[in-house]
Amino acid sequence: MAGYDIRVIGDPVLRQTAKEITDIDGALVRLVDDMLDTMYEAPGIGLAAPQVGVQKRLFVWDVGTGPEAIVNPEIVESDGEWLFEEGCLSVPGLSWEIVRPKTVHIVGRDLDGNEMSFEADEIEARLFQHELDHLDGTLLIERLDDETRKAALKTIRELQLGGADTRRATGGGLTLP
Ligand code: NI
Repeated sequence: MAGYDIRVIGDPVLRQTAKEITDIDGALVRLVDDMLDTMYEAPGIGLAAPQVGVQKRLFVWDVGTGPEAIVNPEIVESDGEWLFEEGCLSVPGLSWEIVRPKTVHIVGRDLDGNEMSFEADEIEARLFQHELDHLDGTLLIERLDDETRKAALKTIRELQLGGADTRRATGGGLTLP
């Protein structure tokens, strides 16, 4: 088990744009293995490389159908609207209802360099949009309306000022991607 520490809100690495991956090599495969260990240990259903401090366009996930990874992912089409209570391992213990497209078509590469292209719906589609946001330095609180975001930032600040482990302070909550 080679888990990473998951970076939490306030860490500047979460606000940067991750870089395209040019080499799919053994080091990248080991990174994916370690990210999956970290995700399962958290536990979460998705994890993007910047969340473990690595500025690469890569994320891993498992929505109950086994471990997956995608390199240089892009959403090429999205459709519909879906409300879902969304959380983030980098904003531990908190969640908000957020509307995003219901279906997405995502493309990228697998760890053998082969093209991946598939349609996702609901939870999986939500996960892809959330993880792609991480690769662009965007956290879920930026998907909230102004008023909700202000309240969210205040709550986060209070939890951090209190020196509390936010997960414990709020008694759990969702630990989605
Ligand atoms: Ni997240």
